[in-house]
Amino acid sequence: MENSKWSQWKLATRLVQAGRSHEPGAPLNPSITLSTGFNLGGEYGYSRGDQPNWTATQSALGELENAAALLFSSGMAAFNAVIELLPIGSRVVAGDIGYSGIDRRLKELAAANRIELELIAVGDQAAMIKAAASADLVWLDSPVNPTMQVWDIKAIAAAAAGLTVVDNTIAGSLNQLPLDLGADISMHSATKQLGGHSDLLAGVLLSRNSELITKLAGIRALSGAVSSAFDAYLLLRGMRTLQLRVERATTTAAEIAKRLAQHPKVSQVLYPGISSNADYAIAKSQMSGFGSMLAILIKGDAAAADRATASSKLWSNSTSLGGVESQWERRRRWENEPIGVPENLIRLSVGIEDVEDLWADLDQALNQI
Ligand SMILES: Cc1ncc(COP(=O)(O)O)c(C=O)c1O
Repeated sequence: MENSKWSQWKLATRLVQAGRSHEPGAPLNPSITLSTGFNLGGEYGYSRGDQPNWTATQSALGELENAAALLFSSGMAAFNAVIELLPIGSRVVAGDIGYSGIDRRLKELAAANRIELELIAVGDQAAMIKAAASADLVWLDSPVNPTMQVWDIKAIAAAAAGLTVVDNTIAGSLNQLPLDLGADISMHSATKQLGGHSDLLAGVLLSRNSELITKLAGIRALSGAVSSAFDAYLLLRGMRTLQLRVERATTTAAEIAKRLAQHPKVSQVLYPGISSNADYAIAKSQMSGFGSMLAILIKGDAAAADRATASSKLWSNSTSLGGVESQWERRRRWENEPIGVPENLIRLSVGIEDVEDLWADLDQALNQI
């Protein structure tokens, strides 16, 4: 891919500048273009194919991983577009734990004979490498949502016969660059940390393979899973502060993980940055930071975990992740959560509030167990 026009600047600068005009008289921020049609002869024709807010937002998204970016209406829409690249009956390999929506969709696609699916036990790197060698698509959720193990992206992508796609939502591009590790596509639910304020739905696919990007843009236009101008605008606005938010949340998450490991009501902390983890060496080699997501197994059952999550005053007991506000939830309360996720697992998404306030609230809530 050609270097972007911002490539001389550091990422923090590029994230603030990408998609901005410096033309005299031009607005500092791209205007929200609601028009669905455009006079012919220019860059745009009809807004299901392309439109100006996508251009601005995609330019910032591309800066994240030095790639071309395609914006979708949601992370699930981005996932489904990848599947549409595959001929019927293609062999797909994924972990046996991963984001529940994608896990469920993969199983539905297999049940309908759209794909042939093999699920590999998370943590079994050798089995994944072996399966990748005969797969048309390897789908890696790393760190795994919500159990937080990591897949060896470099080794798996090197062994893969077909496409390797990494769901990079949990780590984020500031902590992990899947394309540099050999993946063909990096995918994000931009609903999460990229948007950062829990007020938009969006998905993104990033790739340096222009043939793939062209095919995926075609799939997007005809499947119609497109972002609204308003969501595209909000996403770009959220991304202006991405680096600050990620730095703060990542530092706080590491501190909270350390304290939780000593908490009398916690039996295990699941976080890629814990040096005693089996896959710590892999995490360290492929992540520049360990992110703002973690999970805990509490000393108690599902009811005890529910008591804790219902007792917090700052941490929202709500689903989703990556917002400025801290959230936690017991994942198995959702019936579609993969069965390998323990009943007493609570997933935490660390926001940007004061670390001592977050800790005090967590401590009092856990003491309700
Ligand atoms: C890791 C991961 N991937 C994909 C998705 C799906 O994204 P969306 O909700 O934007 O469709 C989610 C949503 O929770 C997620 O956590």
